[in-house]
Amino acid sequence: MRRRIAVGNWKMFKTNADTAAFFDALAPLLDGIPPAVELVVCPPFTALGTAGVALREPRMQRRVSLGAQNVHWAREGAFTGEISGPMLGELGVRYAIVGHSERREYFGETDEDVRRRTAAALEFGITPIVAVGETLAIRRAGGTRDHVVAQIAAVLSVLDDERIARLVIAYEPCWAIGTGENCAPGDANDVMQTIRSCSPALQNVPILYGGSVKPENAGLYAMQPDIDGALIGGASLDPASYAAIAAALASAQREPA
Ligand code: PGA
Repeated sequence: MRRRIAVGNWKMFKTNADTAAFFDALAPLLDGIPPAVELVVCPPFTALGTAGVALREPRMQRRVSLGAQNVHWAREGAFTGEISGPMLGELGVRYAIVGHSERREYFGETDEDVRRRTAAALEFGITPIVAVGETLAIRRAGGTRDHVVAQIAAVLSVLDDERIARLVIAYEPCWAIGTGENCAPGDANDVMQTIRSCSPALQNVPILYGGSVKPENAGLYAMQPDIDGALIGGASLDPASYAAIAAALASAQREPA
């Protein structure tokens, strides 16, 4: 049975004060989220310390894990603007998103960068959430599968099966991110199946859907046999909406494969 995960990706939103307020508001909502879903919140680097303190509260600690939005491949070095795995680990970070489409599109990150960041995260004890997905142009040209398989293959090429089994993967069609335009759950599930078939070691790896996930549609994704949760941007900024999405992911009954 693969685990379900609700990852909140805050992107470049929330100060430290906003972060403290978010966790204060989330705490009383945790009891309403069935335990079948793991909660991961990824604040910006500047707010990880504040989030880490909030998550030390025992009830929070049991339910919510801390994630970062990226991680560098080196332990330390002359890499201005970057953050390393040991730096994140010191703050209690257990997950890191790598290869988000905004990193690929606006900051020129390549498959090679994503491969190196993924391998380093694993080395430093952080679970990478590897994000892949196609642009609208690629989808229209019928190239979704080839594109996503190439992105996954680049990461898997340097990992043995034991490491592959420790990944989390997020399929996020770029055209569905922040646009309110959803990928049909069945279409997303087809891509997930393609991803899972890239290696037998991916059999039990959680694959999340991302792209305009909201409380109203989260359950429709989690009903799909190959979708194990969501990577949530805009709708994760509000504690009530994030909690509602997590609850929907936990309660959805999977349709048979
Ligand atoms: P969105 O973002 O939920 O705002 O579409 C998803 C993401 O970029 O991870």
